[in-house]
Amino acid sequence: MNIGDRGGGEITRQTNETSIPRNEIWRELLVVLAAQKYKEFMEQDLLKIKNDASSLIIAAEDEQELNAIKLDFMGRSGKLTKLVKEIKNVPEDRRAEVGRLANEILGSVEELIERRLTELKGRKRAAVKKQTMDITLPGKRPQVGHLHLITQAIEEISIIFEHIGFTRVRYPEVEWDWYAFGSLNFPKDHPARDDWETFFIEAEPDPKMGPMLLTPHTSSGQVREMLSAGKSRAKGEGTRIKMLNIAKCYRRQSDVSHTQMFHQFEGMVIGEGVSIADLKGTFDFFVHSYFGGNRKSRLRPFHFQFTEPSVEVDVSCGVCNGRGCKLCKGGWLELGGGGMVHPNVLRNGGIDPKKYSGFAFGWGVERVLMMKEGLEIDDLRILYSNRLDFLEQF
Ligand code: PHE
Repeated sequence: MNIGDRGGGEITRQTNETSIPRNEIWRELLVVLAAQKYKEFMEQDLLKIKNDASSLIIAAEDEQELNAIKLDFMGRSGKLTKLVKEIKNVPEDRRAEVGRLANEILGSVEELIERRLTELKGRKRAAVKKQTMDITLPGKRPQVGHLHLITQAIEEISIIFEHIGFTRVRYPEVEWDWYAFGSLNFPKDHPARDDWETFFIEAEPDPKMGPMLLTPHTSSGQVREMLSAGKSRAKGEGTRIKMLNIAKCYRRQSDVSHTQMFHQFEGMVIGEGVSIADLKGTFDFFVHSYFGGNRKSRLRPFHFQFTEPSVEVDVSCGVCNGRGCKLCKGGWLELGGGGMVHPNVLRNGGIDPKKYSGFAFGWGVERVLMMKEGLEIDDLRILYSNRLDFLEQF
């Protein structure tokens, strides 16, 4: 080829081959050059993206950041993905080469991401490890609480009565007037039924049961218990009741020696030939078990609407042993009420008073607890104040 000849028109080969027109050759040359350049630009772009990606990946500080980088380069419209899609435009004879490079780069970016991920995970693990405690250090003891002292007393009282065959029962705290007063022989105008004494519920009174109230004593369980015993009587069995009803009671009272909510435990025994001697024996058993073998009980005549005869039970003072001291004034401490179940009450419970008799008693849990512990609590309300410095002592 005579390159020196710039005479325009045609370049002719000085051989005996067929001559090719000069502008054809130029075109061919340009195509070859363009293909080469396209390939080079693609390669440069690929390498640049690889470098950008690599430096970002290496600098990523956590998995989240790494994921974002991955998406930015390799996601569906990521930078690298876009470029790879462009490979199809590279002239055919150079395409394979660019393709190979692109594959290499894809592979190495992916590998770099994987490596960084493992590194970051390892670092996280190491950080967590560093944080873990020194197992040779003494641990922090979690605060362990205990049952409230009233709950403890209830458990103790229940166990004592279980020993002599009483069964623990529970009856509603929100009660009908009938069970709390009416069935227990209270006359209509008895002061206990006054709303200065008892909390009444704002509910429609029942034509038979009367108004609804918060039970002021556990005696409201007496007739309920008798009625439920009636079911076994219906099966031809005799009546034998030995219930222990422990529950919250409510009265409109709040001063140093009274709380509006308090607890009572009520015992009731009904059967054939139950006498006041059984009542005295039961009291003695409780007094000895709960307060101690050296304590005595005594009965004093009293009046309750629902027992006849009625008594108040006293316990000999634990401080002076019945001789009389500042605490007891006379050697005895008042425990609570009791008596022989009134025939009207038995009848209201569907029990024939000619055939059956029984006794009942109801005492305050807070009261017996204080008498036992010799607690001189200036203000009974402290029991329910959630004051840990007080409660933790028990
Ligand atoms: N319910 C009476 C009160 O709260 C106590 C009591 C119970 C009396 C059972 C006699 C029989 O004071």
